[in-house]
Amino acid sequence: MNRPAVEGLRVNAPAHVKHHRLIAWVAEIAALTEAAEVCWCDGSQEEYDRLCAQLVAAGTMRRLNPQLRPNSYLASSDPSDVARVEDRTFICSERPQDAGPTNNWMAPAEMRAILQTGTADGTPGLFRGSMRGRTLYVVPFSMGPLGSHISHIGVELTDSAYVAISMRVMTRMGRPVLDLLGEDGAFVPCVHSCGAPLERGQKDVAWPCNKTKYIVHYPETREIWSYGSGYGGNALLGKKCFALRIASTMGRDQGWLAEHMLILGVTSPQGRKYHVAAAFPSACGKTNFSMMVPPEGYPGWKVTTIGDDIAWIKPGADGRLHAINPEAGYFGVAPGTNYKTNPNCMDSLKRDVVFTNVALTDDGDVWWEGMTDTPPAHLIDWRGLDWTPALAKETGAKAAHPNARFTVASTNNPVLDPEWDSTTGVAIDAFIFGGRRSTTVPLVTEARNWSEGVYMAATMGSETTAAAAGQQGVVRRDPFAMLPFCGYNMAEHFQHWLDMGSKLRAAGARLPRIYCVNWFRKGADGKFVWPGYGENMRVLEWMIGRLEGRAGGDENVFGISPRYDDLQWNGLAFTREQFASVIGIDRAAWKQELVLHAELFKQLEYHLPVELPATMARIEERLGA
Ligand code: OXD
Ligand code: MN
Repeated sequence: MNRPAVEGLRVNAPAHVKHHRLIAWVAEIAALTEAAEVCWCDGSQEEYDRLCAQLVAAGTMRRLNPQLRPNSYLASSDPSDVARVEDRTFICSERPQDAGPTNNWMAPAEMRAILQTGTADGTPGLFRGSMRGRTLYVVPFSMGPLGSHISHIGVELTDSAYVAISMRVMTRMGRPVLDLLGEDGAFVPCVHSCGAPLERGQKDVAWPCNKTKYIVHYPETREIWSYGSGYGGNALLGKKCFALRIASTMGRDQGWLAEHMLILGVTSPQGRKYHVAAAFPSACGKTNFSMMVPPEGYPGWKVTTIGDDIAWIKPGADGRLHAINPEAGYFGVAPGTNYKTNPNCMDSLKRDVVFTNVALTDDGDVWWEGMTDTPPAHLIDWRGLDWTPALAKETGAKAAHPNARFTVASTNNPVLDPEWDSTTGVAIDAFIFGGRRSTTVPLVTEARNWSEGVYMAATMGSETTAAAAGQQGVVRRDPFAMLPFCGYNMAEHFQHWLDMGSKLRAAGARLPRIYCVNWFRKGADGKFVWPGYGENMRVLEWMIGRLEGRAGGDENVFGISPRYDDLQWNGLAFTREQFASVIGIDRAAWKQELVLHAELFKQLEYHLPVELPATMARIEERLGA
């Protein structure tokens, strides 16, 4: 790492940086933010270790017991900075209708005044002086395998060393990216500041952040500006901000898709391999599904992970849709992860991990709710307070924050797919869309055609989770699991999917099948009926059976679902009655559900594709029949 001084508007970039526009932009941001120094990150292990040591010295992280959790750390955030802030996330397109009604919109000029240039009443821009007393890290990163035609490059300027080290885990970061950029390569500029300048002599805090937060995207100029938060999707700008919000607009303009989807490979005992991309809202089990261990009744079946959160999908030379995982690591929800729910994830977390907001054990390891059946007798909770099971019973205090996370490289995953880093991606055979619904939505339904599948995705609902600040457990429409992540008008996203389907079909390509799933239906006792996790393999196998033309099913009002005997039950005691309760369509509940679909369509009426209300009318007809 080079540590040049900021001299006026000049930044002494290392000799290998040849990109004048990049250097000029770094100088401009260093001047605006009044950063004390600039560090050009090279992505080396030596740099990572040094920044981690610095974060430990600053009290942001603690090194975990190297005997129990080698090369791993526990970071503790400010209690106010623990999740994505959707109400502070903005899409600043020139016209409000291009952001659409599901995004917070502000005119770019107005936002630039707030963030950069200052407002008419003399209030300076929030970024003016926001890095005073701090180091500005230049973090060059590639979303996707280096050199892939599906990948894109970004550069994040951040005043957080925690962000810099996390970006090294989550992306391909450092010197090779600068080399690839050369003298004039395209990159998405991403500016991030915790919004906590340090005045001379001022003592730093362990987790700098600001009560005021802005997570801002300019889709037309493809820029990202993030202020006030050091946490997750607010601050690691390659993830939600670039790989979903900005990339979705790039995809619409260039004919590809950026989706909130895991990608997995599934191989049958006969060696036939399929690739599936599945969209679920945040904290609904994408990581678990992508690392699934097939249950006992499935000898010879193998599931391998390509990605656990985001997919970039482009038509390949063979006309099929090919997907890459733009990320290189997992930023997953820790609570609920254990050797039953996700053994491969637990094995991935044995070493080289940055945990954030989990609890600390007395022997210097980590714990979170659900990791073991019996909690340790004493812990330090995520806020740094003593925690015991008795205290938790009395006060309800959680040892780990419900949105506590692990950050770990993909290469730690024992079931990483051999093609995870392929520059051409993997050909997708099926898309799955799933929400968290305690009622109404069946375990699995196959769309009869592409438009019906787009309808399923567009009307998806899900109960909210701790991944975003705000009330939890409330059903909201989450089209394509992209509600917080679509960088343009959601109705136009529906149209983009329909257009992609028509184009592929016109080119004679085989379109992936589309499925809607719901693992979360509850019985009268309030408990989940479907066992989920590895048992989801039964549903996946049914889908493969459908692709191969050998699995049966029954038409229902909005697609085709398996009958009890269409699934394989080897090794699982699951009765016909239980199955009926997760697969059944309650007509009254569906009439109510369609009212909610109609409300969504009303909200999204500007540029809503006519196919969607037409599909709804057909479902209504079938329901009435
Ligand atoms: C995530 C999220 O962090 O969806 O992946 O919130
Ligand atoms: Mn996600």
